[in-house]
Amino acid sequence: MHHFDYRNGELCCEEVPLSAIAEAVGTPAYVYSSATLERHFDVFKNAFAPRDVLVAFAVKANANIAIIETLARRGAGADTVSRGEIMRALKGGVPHDRIIFSGVGKTEDELSFAIEKHVHQINVESIAELDALSRLAAARNARPAVAIRVNPDVGAGGHEKISTGRGDAKFGVSIAQAEALYARAAADPHLSPKGLAVHIGSQIKDLAPLEAAFRLLRISVERLRAAGMEVTRVDLGGGLGVPYFHEPAPPSPDAYAAMITRVFSGLDVALAIEPGRAIAANAGVLLSRVIRTQERPGRPILVLDAGMNDLIRPAIYDAYHDIKPARAPADAEDVLTYDVVGPICETGDTFARNRALPKLNDGDLVAFMSAGAYGATMASTYNARALSPEVLVRGGRFSVIRRRWTVEEQIALEMLPEPTP
Ligand code: LLP
Repeated sequence: MHHFDYRNGELCCEEVPLSAIAEAVGTPAYVYSSATLERHFDVFKNAFAPRDVLVAFAVKANANIAIIETLARRGAGADTVSRGEIMRALKGGVPHDRIIFSGVGKTEDELSFAIEKHVHQINVESIAELDALSRLAAARNARPAVAIRVNPDVGAGGHEKISTGRGDAKFGVSIAQAEALYARAAADPHLSPKGLAVHIGSQIKDLAPLEAAFRLLRISVERLRAAGMEVTRVDLGGGLGVPYFHEPAPPSPDAYAAMITRVFSGLDVALAIEPGRAIAANAGVLLSRVIRTQERPGRPILVLDAGMNDLIRPAIYDAYHDIKPARAPADAEDVLTYDVVGPICETGDTFARNRALPKLNDGDLVAFMSAGAYGATMASTYNARALSPEVLVRGGRFSVIRRRWTVEEQIALEMLPEPTP
């Protein structure tokens, strides 16, 4: 469910017509609905009630501090994978004890930062990382809370490049190794092992692989306890998919929560989940203007002012994003089949082929739907383009939450080398 609908013939975000935002900030621009973000967060949180679950928003999906703040006000935690994401989570008002630090390549600087900020939990992915963390904690006389990330050898996810749970993926350690690492951490005076963590992939449309991974986790928790160790937490990662187009809808957060509640029933353990996409994707659009339409033998090409630098998902995952005109098409309007492309000098800068759309003219506005997750966070300035602004809508008002980063500003960071004598 989201809050992007036609009202009086205009596509609106909540009560604000997208055309008004384009007028104010130009295009391309990301536009987010706070009501949608809040609703999605509440749906996850309430789906587990009365069980209290830490819903740690995966900041990589959308790292703007205003988005984080919107969720933090509802009680969200944050799943972070870099020093920068921890900084953003704190700046967005997430309490330190709701921040999870994950990631396969944490540097010593980042681990030290996480220790100093007293994050809720550091998810460790290897023996080398565990030992580094212990050393850094000892030097600070600290005892960080640790979870061991398990690789359950269960494949899942909407695309090969976003599947993380297979045995040959670079993430986590096998169940047997995880238990050995846990025991090592339990014997270490500078580590406070709390539990196990798992994340098997993203855009998952079937609960079965998630359930299989969670069952393995439960068995492992029971085994660790039987061996006399205290295990108080499990972190189940993110991964629940969203409907990008008219296909069978992914399982609802309610179904997901019911499955988790079933798998962990009777096990006294604190649960955390790390949804990113399911909270943010349908809460945002990328607004773009038609530069021109070009006739080609075969079919017309719609050239937009947004490019793969703004929204890279179609180029790298063959992702589908629905495209809606900002002005509601009349019933009897012509429908044309377009190839929809951006201005970047690569064939990969193609958002859609053979896409049926109402006839569009130069200057018309369109919105890429479901672009609130992994849109702005994956954007770049490729082809010396500005970085698009971000706008947050609350009811009838909107605020610029990141202004456009102009090419002039980018160039100002660069300099010529000293001339050689
Ligand atoms: N937790 C961990 C440890 C993760 O690695 C991820 C995502 C999440 C949580 C959040 O997963 P979600 O609930 O959003 O599925 N750029 C790709 C998605 C990459 C996801 C990477 N990890 C895309 O645009 O589809």
